[in-house]
Amino acid sequence: MSNYKIAVIGGDGTGPEVVEEGLKVLEAVAEKCDFKYETTSYDFGGARYLKTGEVLPSSAVEELKTFDSIFLGAIGHPDVKPGILEKGILLKLRFDLDQYINLRPVELYDERFCPLKDKKPADINFTVVRENSEGLYKGLGEFQNKGTKDEIAIQISHNTRKGVERCVRYAFEYAKNHGRKKQLTLCGKTNVLTYAFDLWERTFYEVAKEYPQVTTDYAHVDATTMWFIKNPDWFDVIVTDNMFGDIITDLAAMIQGGMGLAAGGNINPNGVSMFEPIGGSAPKYTGKNVINPLAAICSLAMLLRQIGEVSAADMVENSVKTVVKTKIKSLAAGKMGYSTTEVGDLVVRYL
Ligand code: IPM
Ligand code: MN
Repeated sequence: MSNYKIAVIGGDGTGPEVVEEGLKVLEAVAEKCDFKYETTSYDFGGARYLKTGEVLPSSAVEELKTFDSIFLGAIGHPDVKPGILEKGILLKLRFDLDQYINLRPVELYDERFCPLKDKKPADINFTVVRENSEGLYKGLGEFQNKGTKDEIAIQISHNTRKGVERCVRYAFEYAKNHGRKKQLTLCGKTNVLTYAFDLWERTFYEVAKEYPQVTTDYAHVDATTMWFIKNPDWFDVIVTDNMFGDIITDLAAMIQGGMGLAAGGNINPNGVSMFEPIGGSAPKYTGKNVINPLAAICSLAMLLRQIGEVSAADMVENSVKTVVKTKIKSLAAGKMGYSTTEVGDLVVRYL
C-alpha cells in the first residue's frame, strides 16, 4: 500500500482553515480508497515573518524536495508589504522546485453560480496551462535614475526556448490526453510583443507537428478575455505565458462561479508539485468559519490525481459537484448557507 508524504503549508489568513477542510476530506478518502499518507506542517507565512524576520528558512526547499506533494493554503498578509511573502515564499517555491506549469482547470458546476447570462455547464469547461517559471515573473529589470523626474523602470519578460518548449509540450500532451475537443489555443500577443510571442508562436507550431491529433488555434490575450465572456465554449486547453496566465485565470475563475471553486496546481512533472486554491488569504474572513473551502478541496483532488490516486481524485471532485449542485446557496464567503467546517463535512458525507 502506498504511503504518501505530504507537506502542508496552511499559510496566511483563511489559508489554514481551508487546508484543514482539505485534510478532513483527505483522511476520509484515504480510508475509502485504501492508501496511507503522512503530513508534515510548515508555518511559512506572514505571521512567522513578522515574528522572526525570516521569510523562508534556507533548508526549506531541500526539505520540501523529499515529499510526494505539497498542499498550500494561501500566502499574503495585510501587515506585510506586498511582494515580500509572494516573492519570498510562493514564487521562490515555484522557481526552486521547478514547478514550471501552473495548471488551472475551469469548470462551471452549476449555472446558478455563473455571472454570465444564459451560460450552462456545457459552455464553461476548459483548462489553462500557464507557464510558471519565466516571463515577467523572472524579476529581471532595473530602475534608472530612481526617484528623479527622468526615472525609468524596466521590467523584462524572460522567455527561453527550453522553458517555452517544455510548457507547450506539456499543454499538447494535456490536450491529447484530457482535452474535451483535443484543441489547444495559444494565448499571446504576437502583434505587439514581437520577441516573446514570436518565440512562443514558432515553438507552438513546431511542437504541433508532433501532435497531429490536436487541433491548434491562436488568440491574442485581449481577445481571449472577450471570448471568455462571449463564447467560453470555444476553448478546450489554453497555453500561455506566466503574466497572461495570471490574468486570464482570475477572469476564468469568475465565470466558473468565483474564487470559491478555483483550484490550481504548480506542477513539476518530474519533481514535487504544489497545489493551492488561487483565491488568496482573504484576511477579513480569518477565524470566522465562513470562507468557502471548496477551492482548497478541489486543489486536494488535483494533488490526488498528480500522485496517482485517480479514483480518489474523481471521488472528491464528484462529491464537490454534488455539494455545489444540491446544497450550497452561494459560493461566496458567508453566504454558502453553511459554515466552512460544515461544507467540509458535506464533502466527506457525499464521497
Ligand atoms: C496566483 C497569484 C500569485 C501570482 C501572486 C500571489 C504572486 O496571483 O497564483 O495567481 O501572481 O502568480
Ligand atoms: Mn493570480
